[in-house]
Amino acid sequence: MSTMYAVRAHTRGGPEQLVYEQVPRPEPGPGEVLVAVKAASMTPHELTWPETWTHSSDGSGPERTPIIPSHEFSGVVAASRAEVQSPTEGEAVYGLIPFTRDGAAAEYVTLPAAVVAAKPATVDHDHAAALPLSALTAWQALVNHADLQPGQHVLVQGGAGGVGSQVVQIAAGLGARVSATAAAADLEFVKGLGAEQAIDYAHDRFEDHVRDVDVVIDLVGGVTQSRSWSVLKAGGILVSPATPPDQQEAARHDARGVYFIVAPDQNALRSIAELVDNGRLKPVVDRVLPLTETRSGYEALETGKHRGKIVVHVAD
Ligand SMILES: NC(=O)c1ccc[n+]([C@@H]2O[C@H](COP(=O)([O-])OP(=O)(O)OC[C@H]3O[C@@H](n4cnc5c(N)ncnc54)[C@H](OP(=O)(O)O)[C@@H]3O)[C@@H](O)[C@H]2O)c1
Repeated sequence: MSTMYAVRAHTRGGPEQLVYEQVPRPEPGPGEVLVAVKAASMTPHELTWPETWTHSSDGSGPERTPIIPSHEFSGVVAASRAEVQSPTEGEAVYGLIPFTRDGAAAEYVTLPAAVVAAKPATVDHDHAAALPLSALTAWQALVNHADLQPGQHVLVQGGAGGVGSQVVQIAAGLGARVSATAAAADLEFVKGLGAEQAIDYAHDRFEDHVRDVDVVIDLVGGVTQSRSWSVLKAGGILVSPATPPDQQEAARHDARGVYFIVAPDQNALRSIAELVDNGRLKPVVDRVLPLTETRSGYEALETGKHRGKIVVHVAD
């Protein structure tokens, strides 16, 4: 049996459950590719998501443990099933792995060929790995759910984070006017991504600076989300991948509230790679850690300050 090194959790829990160990190397199933992972990336709270621990997207059914976290990656196709025409062996690819299967904090990962896309050519694997989950979430929030139109005004709650830094850039690229909340130290950074207005969430009230916005993309949840209804115009939409919006509040403000879970999407990944290669979208990497330090990355997401994504470098 071939083996590999990976980071796994044998019991449901937080970063303290993650161990670096030698494990069986996975074999691609029908329609799948085996990818030699070069880099993977992590997302806050993913260890609390029910689908991280089971085979079903609603979290029902038996535990899937041991699990491997980090569901976005960049790497090289190492093998594929005979029926897979594309991508081919040796091709550099990136992608979002369905949450109900093992992630990419490992030397190898298998996933359906249909959800993999060619990696952006102009960035290295560490930067490409920072994109699939965060840029796809941004893309799906703005394009699929908010149907953002040029000239509309978007408020991004949490504009300097992993997802927020992609939302600001993609929204500005689509011709929207962008306001974003961020920590004081991140205000200039967020403006540099394309926000017209950056609001210090700790010392300023966003309600004093924006009103009648068409779209709120909420990456914070909680009180920030509930305060956001008051700045939406009638007929506006609040989209949150962080926490489900209160539908009664939405109705009270004559607005819509949408929660969604990002889905793998090969076509959107191709569009994202094109934006990157045309210089219109930059991956934002806070730091790069070796695979052996994956646990400390998850701890930092829970407790520490970060700007953009924490990436795990797996192989040169
Ligand atoms: N449903 C899905 O499919 C899906 C997909 C991706 C992400 N998510 C969720 O979406 C959320 C955002 O993910 P992420 O990767 O972007 O997280 P992140 O990198 O931690 O970004 C969150 C950002 O929000 C800022 N922030 C904290 N409190 C704030 C406040 N009161 N007002 C404005 N900004 C505030 C943080 O700033 P500081 O650094 O100063 O704290 C940080 O820059 C997480 O809850 C994640 O689990 C869900």
